[in-house]
Amino acid sequence: MAALGSRSSSVLSCQNVSVRFGAFQAVNNVSIDLAAGQTLALIGPNGAGKTTFINAVSGRVSLAAGRIRLGDADITNVPVHRRAAAGLGRSFQIINIFDQMTVLENLRLAAQSRAFGWQPCWRPVSAWPALERRAREVAAMVGLEAELDLPVTMLSHGKQRAVELGLALIPDPKVLLLDEPLAGIGHSEIEPTMELLQQVRKGRSVLLVEHNMDVVDRIADEIVVMVGGEVLLRDRPSAIWNSAEVRRLYLGSEVAGHA
Ligand SMILES: Nc1ncnc2c1ncn2[C@@H]1O[C@H](COP(=O)(O)OP(=O)(O)OP(=O)(O)O)[C@@H](O)[C@H]1O
Ligand SMILES: [Mg+2]
Repeated sequence: MAALGSRSSSVLSCQNVSVRFGAFQAVNNVSIDLAAGQTLALIGPNGAGKTTFINAVSGRVSLAAGRIRLGDADITNVPVHRRAAAGLGRSFQIINIFDQMTVLENLRLAAQSRAFGWQPCWRPVSAWPALERRAREVAAMVGLEAELDLPVTMLSHGKQRAVELGLALIPDPKVLLLDEPLAGIGHSEIEPTMELLQQVRKGRSVLLVEHNMDVVDRIADEIVVMVGGEVLLRDRPSAIWNSAEVRRLYLGSEVAGHA
């Protein structure tokens, strides 16, 4: 098993992280670090604690124990918006966008809240062109130039995923947490979404939760397997697929196809 401790080149370092919901320990003593430019996939069965761990890193749930560092900064007790400002972006397992608004409006709002917080009455009018520019730039990045003026409800699931990814990319985060970016999308959209992920991971560090093992195999530099709130294993994809423990865990499901 690869070392799980903090590396000097880590852009994100999570040490001995635990999360409890009442008496239930959803994440138990998890240490994961992410190197610059690395894509690390977090896999494991339903209920393993993957989303809870992402929530802990992004600041949506409190830690019962442990420390989290982003670069040189200790962000363990830093609120969500300040983590985002420090370079941490995330997307959600369940699509989390304003579906009555257009693609451009969603992206512009994200740019605006990033620049000014939720206080639009105080924003200087002169800042608008920059927000608009950033929104359009990100739309192009995630392949939504043709859909800019469409309400999000009119988009396919894959395109809605692209909007969500775009929202996470607005502040140009150096670390991106992606919770099942392919969840719910149709078969025909897997390949384009996969290509999009390959694009956005360039120049960033990515922690990717994903159940689609083909995608994980193609995109991840390393894989962490979580079970019952704990890390079972961390290794390169080929070693993970060959692990007897992992194969037992996924017996009969898609990981068994990777030999
Ligand atoms: N807010 C909460 N209150 C109580 N229990 C919770 C809460 N959030 C998650 N849990 C529990 O914590 C455990 C881990 O849940 P989590 O959503 O992190 O799993 P997951 O690995 O993301 O699963 P999936 O692959 O299904 O998305 C589960 O048993 C879940 O029921
Ligand atoms: Mg989850």
